[in-house]
Amino acid sequence: MKIAVIHGQQHKGSTYNITKLFLNKLAGENREIVEFFMPRDTPPSCVGCCNCFMKGELKCPHAEIVQPVVRAIEEADLVILDSPCYVLGMTGQLKTFLDHMGYRWMPHRPHPQMFRKIGLAVSTAAGAGAKKVTKELRRHFFYWGIPKSFSYAKNIRATNWEMVPAKKKARIEKEVTRLAAKILKRQGKVKPGMKTKAIFKLMGLMQKSNDWNPADREHWVKNGWLSGKNPW
Ligand SMILES: Cc1cc2nc3c(=O)[nH]c(=O)nc-3n(C[C@H](O)[C@H](O)[C@H](O)COP(=O)(O)O)c2cc1C
Repeated sequence: MKIAVIHGQQHKGSTYNITKLFLNKLAGENREIVEFFMPRDTPPSCVGCCNCFMKGELKCPHAEIVQPVVRAIEEADLVILDSPCYVLGMTGQLKTFLDHMGYRWMPHRPHPQMFRKIGLAVSTAAGAGAKKVTKELRRHFFYWGIPKSFSYAKNIRATNWEMVPAKKKARIEKEVTRLAAKILKRQGKVKPGMKTKAIFKLMGLMQKSNDWNPADREHWVKNGWLSGKNPW
């Protein structure tokens, strides 16, 4: 199984350690893990040129930084996004990267391989907000076309991993083990549900009358999605 991990933070705190637990539990003989750390791998803020949407992703002024991460996501079977909760949202550096993935949303040019992948969103907060973050991250998975995503959100009542009591760490490990087993069970077997199919169909109708963005329309035509083919 190929796993791409986009860490929303660079430091190795609670969020990183929980993701690491997942990676250990998901470990198999054939696993291949690629990890990116934000902000080390974060592109500069989006400049709003819309080149990615209108002229193609390679015309983004940050393409050289963005594309290696995008390729790793496209090649993976499982995509993991993690982030500590910062003021009830994901970290700014992760959001900055995700802004650069806008062209891969279903209304634009979703990658055909996305419709076979699994996503996992991980977040921790001190008191409140971890669930808000995983919900936000799963929305990205959904609009990328990923049909099945899981989340692990934990309000850990601590500001770093060392502060988390051993008993709580043991409970976290148990929960992670259970969820990792679920993920492994679904691997290679995911299919888009009604909601993905409905949004995809709606986007197809929009693309049929699209005379404002040739880059998007060509993508849909090239993949045969305007003549009855589906990416799943
Ligand atoms: C800038 C900043 C904002 C934060 N905002 C929240 C918050 O809105 N809610 C919360 O419960 N914890 C908040 N925290 C605490 C962290 O989310 C929490 O300690 C988390 O587990 C840290 O994960 P990490 O060890 O991976 O960095 C914030 C921390 C920082 C540094």
